[in-house]
Amino acid sequence: MFSTSNWTTRLAVLGALAGATICAKALRLLYLWAELELGPVRLQRFKRDWALVTGGSEGVGKAVAKALAAQGLNLVLVSRSQQKLDAAAADIQQRWPQAQVRTIAADLTAPGSCQQLLQSLSDTPISVLIANVGGGICGPCLYWHYSDADEAYVQALNGQACYSLVKGLLPGMVARNKGAVVAVSSIMHQWGSYAAPYGAEKAKMNALMAMIDSELALAGVTGVSVQAMVLGPVDTPGVVQLMNNAATAAAAAAHDADPAAAAAAAAKRRQAFSNAISAEVVAASMVKCIGKGGPVVTPYWKHALQQQLMLGECLWPPVLQRAVKRAISRKFKAVCEGQE
Ligand SMILES: NC(=O)c1ccc[n+]([C@@H]2O[C@H](COP(=O)([O-])OP(=O)(O)OC[C@H]3O[C@@H](n4cnc5c(N)ncnc54)[C@H](OP(=O)(O)O)[C@@H]3O)[C@@H](O)[C@H]2O)c1
Repeated sequence: MFSTSNWTTRLAVLGALAGATICAKALRLLYLWAELELGPVRLQRFKRDWALVTGGSEGVGKAVAKALAAQGLNLVLVSRSQQKLDAAAADIQQRWPQAQVRTIAADLTAPGSCQQLLQSLSDTPISVLIANVGGGICGPCLYWHYSDADEAYVQALNGQACYSLVKGLLPGMVARNKGAVVAVSSIMHQWGSYAAPYGAEKAKMNALMAMIDSELALAGVTGVSVQAMVLGPVDTPGVVQLMNNAATAAAAAAHDADPAAAAAAAAKRRQAFSNAISAEVVAASMVKCIGKGGPVVTPYWKHALQQQLMLGECLWPPVLQRAVKRAISRKFKAVCEGQE
């Protein structure tokens, strides 16, 4: 039998261990934040080189393109609409006249489109790849309600469009021992509900970048960095689209005849979803983070905090993590469907 004082001592030791673990993890977070936010941008060696930004005409892609132009890089922007590309290129060149900007209109989900894109760039050595195109979340939707076509689209947009370009561009970067790859990933795979094909594709992206990073080290390549950058909610046209789709579906289901009210509700939801964090703010952190913080990194500090505190990756026991993830999933669904 244990005496009360024995139990008190054990509880005190357990408490001290838990406290020390939390402190160590909090310190690690602080160190990471300081390294990413306060350290210098390591893009000097890419000055006047070409960066390829997929989905570069809007949202996160356009914001990263601007941040790269500000660092002296030249840009190749890719998206489907030539009109949007022209507008983005004009905007960038007006602010950074020294930047050369090429635009290529292509639907990167079309079979063979990435190979065609690479061919058209055979005369343009790419030093920085921002594999940003993605999204296409058809949700909130349970996995078994996804049509095969929707799932294949989400996989092509988020996965294949990234992997094909990484595979196509890495040999040149390795040969020159100079390059940086950023695959734009999402926090969503961690809470894991109502957007399963999207989350799964982003999880694969993280795993792939981590493995390529370790293979580069094994191959002795020191001048090429490969990273998945994990983002939380950002206010972009993609989010507006998601909210509008959900608003249309909710209005149709409720036979709501007032489109203005539906649009106002969608705008409110968009704010609730993204916390109105702008793409420019997130892009500034992403560019600072290139080549720093490891192969899977959350560049923007508020997203990193959300990841750690809300998802409890570092602080909470698994049973609590599951409960929190479910609560976040329910909240996401409720926000999209206009119940909050
Ligand atoms: N926004 C968020 O809350 C959030 C959170 C986490 C992660 N992310 C990730 O961040 C990345 C960018 O998201 P975003 O919200 O900025 O997206 P967005 O606002 O929807 O912008 C998407 C960009 O991709 C282009 N695009 C879309 N489909 C394309 C296709 N099939 N082929 C070529 N280009 C295409 C669009 O231009 P066109 O229409 O002209 O093609 C546009 O330039 C994605 O990988 C997304 O998963 C976003």
